[in-house]
Amino acid sequence: MTAAAWEVHSQSVAETLALGRRIGAAARPGDVVALVGDLGSGKTHLAKGIAEGLGAARAHDVTSPTFIICHEYLDGRMPFYHLDAYRLHGSADLEAIGADEMLEGDGLAALEWADRAPEALPDDRLDVRLEVTGAETRRIALAPHGPRAERLLAAVRRAAGEAAR
Ligand SMILES: Nc1ncnc2c1ncn2[C@@H]1O[C@H](COP(=O)(O)OP(=O)(O)OP(=O)(O)O)[C@@H](O)[C@H]1O
Ligand SMILES: [Mg+2]
Repeated sequence: MTAAAWEVHSQSVAETLALGRRIGAAARPGDVVALVGDLGSGKTHLAKGIAEGLGAARAHDVTSPTFIICHEYLDGRMPFYHLDAYRLHGSADLEAIGADEMLEGDGLAALEWADRAPEALPDDRLDVRLEVTGAETRRIALAPHGPRAERLLAAVRRAAGEAAR
């Protein structure tokens, strides 16, 4: 049985960034965040917050001839691999860029449009589903799958609780 999901109602871009920063601050090497949600739901903003939470500022873009396939942030407390499956043709492309190593490696990995590459995802991961609920509001559901993700989510919730006090 997996631990319960946690639902956050973000009222602004700033709140989504702050949630991302908490994830980045609590992450351990090998953690994986699977981001799912419609266009403009806030996946990239959450990932930016995660990079900030790791203390990373500069993204090194890994490009193909036509588009960016991965933003690597290597100047934080651990590497952060920000991947996007939207432009990739499923798991085969992810494999081709060496996503395997990013997803179970020395850092934290976040994959946008994770539902487009389900085979690439490790069993233990934090699923984050973002939904547009208004111009400035987003429902963000965080569901852990596996002990690693449960630890990460518990740490994020603890930090959020402490900030609210
Ligand atoms: N509470 C909120 N949290 C995050 N983004 C918000 C919020 N309210 C409004 N926005 C806006 O929604 C948009 C989210 O864009 P973002 O690029 O993060 O989405 P995305 O899910 O990555 O989209 P895509 O699928 O195109 O990659 C931005 O224009 C941002 O200003
Ligand atoms: Mg995006």
